[in-house]
Amino acid sequence: SVLQTLSRTGSILLDTLAYWRGCSFIQSKERQVDKSFPSDEQLMNAALEAKERAYAPYSGFRVGAALVTESGTIFTGCNVENCSYGLTCCAERNALFTAIGQGSRLFKKLVIVSDGPKPATPCGACRQVMIEFATDLPLISVSETGETIEANLKDLLPQPFTRQTLAENVDTE
Ligand code: THU
Repeated sequence: SVLQTLSRTGSILLDTLAYWRGCSFIQSKERQVDKSFPSDEQLMNAALEAKERAYAPYSGFRVGAALVTESGTIFTGCNVENCSYGLTCCAERNALFTAIGQGSRLFKKLVIVSDGPKPATPCGACRQVMIEFATDLPLISVSETGETIEANLKDLLPQPFTRQTLAENVDTE
């Protein structure tokens, strides 16, 4: 009966361990993120789908962007042009604004897909808008033929003007 007690205690311990392992609340955040985090290929497909929705009758240059958050949610955007040309908004900014509007502000990666043989890096306006939310943002840009550029936003916009610059110079409440 000592053996019986030992074996019963053992199986209770094993059950408890199995139960704990199944509980998502004790799993590390890292693991939860890893499980659902989209691959570069998934992000490229999302950006490609967004590119198909681009409204670019003036330039004929369609761009799609996929921005992934820390928790693995993908927000996409395409360029939207206007007959008053200067009102055009790029794919990158549209993806970012959509994410912000949906309550996400922590970004992990940006994937851009564009028409033509050469990959395009984000324009200056988009770099400035994006750096407000993500300094260290790895990005991949892929052309129609699959040519790729990898970079990081912080290298694309050195010595940026940030909210800290403002805070150091004026009283911003
Ligand atoms: N465009 C983007 O959407 N993202 C970029 O990174 C570069 C430029 C768009 C704006 C415009 O609709 C077209 O490409 C040509 O400039």
